[in-house]
Amino acid sequence: MKTLILSPTEIAARVTALGQQISQDYQGKPLMLVGVLNGAFIFLADLARALTIDVEIDFIRVASYGQSASSSGTIRLAKEVELDLTAKHIILVEDIIDTGSTMAWLIAYFANRPTASVRTCTLIDKKERRQVDITADYAGFTVPDGFLVGYGLDYAEQYRQLTGIYHLEPTAITS
Ligand code: IMP
Ligand code: MG
Repeated sequence: MKTLILSPTEIAARVTALGQQISQDYQGKPLMLVGVLNGAFIFLADLARALTIDVEIDFIRVASYGQSASSSGTIRLAKEVELDLTAKHIILVEDIIDTGSTMAWLIAYFANRPTASVRTCTLIDKKERRQVDITADYAGFTVPDGFLVGYGLDYAEQYRQLTGIYHLEPTAITS
């Protein structure tokens, strides 16, 4: 069972606003969006098209969740960024920040790279389960606890294609 919590229209309006804000903040600066695969691919595609400034786009992949609905606690790099980050202003684009472990790991990882700056943008900020003290610089929606799917977000690799964001009932989650 799943319940719609964010409609495609609501998502589009918020993503447009984020794109406008980022375009203002990075006017005249070399900007690169780095999407965190797989979850951020749809959000990044829409966010990039909401920008009115030039941008480079790349992706990184970290492995953490596996097939389960709760974090395994271990994070490893599964796909490196391939573009040259030198002197670029980076925005890490995530689908959702939950415990914060993944984003904290990514921020530490990028801290060692020759960027001009690193900020974070998440579509969903799930603050109530935060274990690592990080705050996204740009956040689409803050939602209470609960497992969400759709618009790139998956449960066991399912539901990413849904155009809205849904709350998945705990009875549908098997781990
Ligand atoms: P964190 O390391 O606990 O912050 O988890 C971040 C990652 O867990 C996200 O990039 C998602 O891939 C996944 N995740 C956390 N909560 C959800 C959810 O409600 N739905 C789908 N994926 C989630
Ligand atoms: Mg993810």
